[in-house]
Amino acid sequence: MPDLPRLRLSAQQQAAPSEVEQQLISLSSSVGIATVSEADVSDALVLEIVADTLQLMDLTVANSTGVSVDFLSGQSQYRRQHGGGSKEPIAKAVGIKASQSITVLDATPGLGRDAFVLAALGAHVIMIERSPVAYLLLADGLRRLARQEPELAKQFVLYHANSCDYMHQLAPASVDAVYLDPMFPHRKKSALVKKEMRLFQVMLGADEDADLLLPAALHAAAKRVVVKRPNSAPLLAEQKPSMAISSKKHRFDVYIKNV
Ligand SMILES: C[S@@+](CC[C@H](N)C(=O)[O-])C[C@H]1O[C@@H](n2cnc3c(N)ncnc32)[C@H](O)[C@@H]1O
Repeated sequence: MPDLPRLRLSAQQQAAPSEVEQQLISLSSSVGIATVSEADVSDALVLEIVADTLQLMDLTVANSTGVSVDFLSGQSQYRRQHGGGSKEPIAKAVGIKASQSITVLDATPGLGRDAFVLAALGAHVIMIERSPVAYLLLADGLRRLARQEPELAKQFVLYHANSCDYMHQLAPASVDAVYLDPMFPHRKKSALVKKEMRLFQVMLGADEDADLLLPAALHAAAKRVVVKRPNSAPLLAEQKPSMAISSKKHRFDVYIKNV
């Protein structure tokens, strides 16, 4: 895995950090992310705290805007208000019904987009992220969500861990469903690979050990495991699903547990 980016602090943030900045500095240090002074401009990728938000910046790209987790963004809120509810392909795949709340373990939460959709559909979501950077961005996104929408924020739990280890340590069938969306290597460097995913690919590489997630997920899930794949991608761990649900760009391979 590439070197971890450092948290770049202004002279003001170093000398007299605000409460939020102090929290983010401590959380970063707890996952092995060091701080660096703004005066040191040698790093290509850095984390920064700008306007109360933690963001990942690529300093090699002119005028680049940072990548952050913003559950309150227009895009997330639009999806929440205008999505198809329990008729959405992701809701059907995971088995979310308006009448009952289920617990979903998102073993590859990344920037939390899918986790947010699942929570907005009513699920309780446990996010297990192994990348220190993705974990920090998610924690910061949840912190801001909790200020604006505390009830929605309470539907999430976030841990920094390898989800294979985490799921194997759970008692069998501990959660209703497990959701998997490991990084898939994109063949073309097209505009389709969005800016943030490109940054993440540079930083994390492909999830080469993704096949290991499926047996761990099948152990932890009581009802089903859902694997999100690009339409053309091969099956995870070459294991045939019980069914597949397709959306415009993706396919959800669903593994139903036999009870
Ligand atoms: C393609 S991204 C997921 C994107 C996410 N579904 C979203 O909506 O933003 C894959 C993420 O899974 C994480 N990941 C892959 N394998 C993991 C594992 N074994 N344990 C925890 N996290 C893992 C990677 O670090 C990366 O952040």
